[in-house]
Amino acid sequence: MTPFVTHSDPFTPFDTAPSKPSVDTGYVARIPHDEILPQVVGDAFRHRVGTKPLDLHRWFVRDPDWEPTIAMKRALIDERRNEVVCHRDDAHEVAQEAGELVLGWLGKSTSNIGIDTLVDAAREVPDDLTVLRSMPSEAGEQLPFVAGVVCSPSRWKLSEKIGHDMLTVHKPVALYAEHIGAAVDTTLTRLSPDKPIWRSNWTLEDHPALFQPYSPDKPLVEHPSELWIRIERETLRRLPRTRGILFTIRGFQEPLSSWVNRGPEAVRTLRELVFRLPDALARYKSVYDYRAATITWLDSLLA
Ligand code: HEM
Repeated sequence: MTPFVTHSDPFTPFDTAPSKPSVDTGYVARIPHDEILPQVVGDAFRHRVGTKPLDLHRWFVRDPDWEPTIAMKRALIDERRNEVVCHRDDAHEVAQEAGELVLGWLGKSTSNIGIDTLVDAAREVPDDLTVLRSMPSEAGEQLPFVAGVVCSPSRWKLSEKIGHDMLTVHKPVALYAEHIGAAVDTTLTRLSPDKPIWRSNWTLEDHPALFQPYSPDKPLVEHPSELWIRIERETLRRLPRTRGILFTIRGFQEPLSSWVNRGPEAVRTLRELVFRLPDALARYKSVYDYRAATITWLDSLLA
């Protein structure tokens, strides 16, 4: 049994009570980037790679969540390092290049080397940093996931992913292999240092913590208005020296009760996205238990 503590602060881990309730601090969780909000595409559900060119001026984006997310990350790295930092023995060179790229973008540097460079970089940005190593193979190139500093996992454990290829990393994601397994591998092998890309993901969760490495074993809330929408903004860059890949993930959480105030178009979009999810994916996204009630509630708001 995993100890989920009920609270409403995205920056407090899932298993900890907030020291200061966010209502006291005046903080309101609202996803601050409209371009990452989910959209309805086509007429049926399909995973999509959905990458777009990344403007490097906006590689990391300063917004109201920047400081509190970094504070959360620093506390996790200092106090729970073995849960948020993980690497394979052969990861140091590529992790160092990835860390230097991030620090260089910020105009900073470090005297640390290897994985510690990546950790130093992760302390300076709100995004999680994950690194793939490029290794020659008969098929051309293998890109195993070899290092990461991950403080906003959406119900997955970093230590279980290290060392694996993309198909294995995404094994719990229903329909991943069928819809986009090959396309993701091609996207990664074709990625070049001068053409960085980004994409986004969405899901619903019944707990607001950005740091949520586990799934609860039963629903945590009763009414869909108590759910949260979680969106991740992800960027991908090929590293010029080692040819590895740096994949960054920035998580955001917003209460559904606030989301619906974005207006009827946002409500309709969410209703359609939830309605379309195949059952296996609804289960993976923890939407299954809430789906019928969520649709009924969203319909009532549109009536
Ligand atoms: C273009 C590239 C990629 C695409 C299209 C993609 C797609 C996805 C999708 C659709 C999900 C499910 C999210 C949800 O429904 O909530 C997912 C989860 C995930 N992705 Fe990716 N991904 C990509 C690259 C990567 C890379 C490079 C990593 C390496 C670290 C990665 C690690 C993960 C992990 C750890 C999960 C959670 C899996 C779990 O629940 O156990 N992804 N990804």
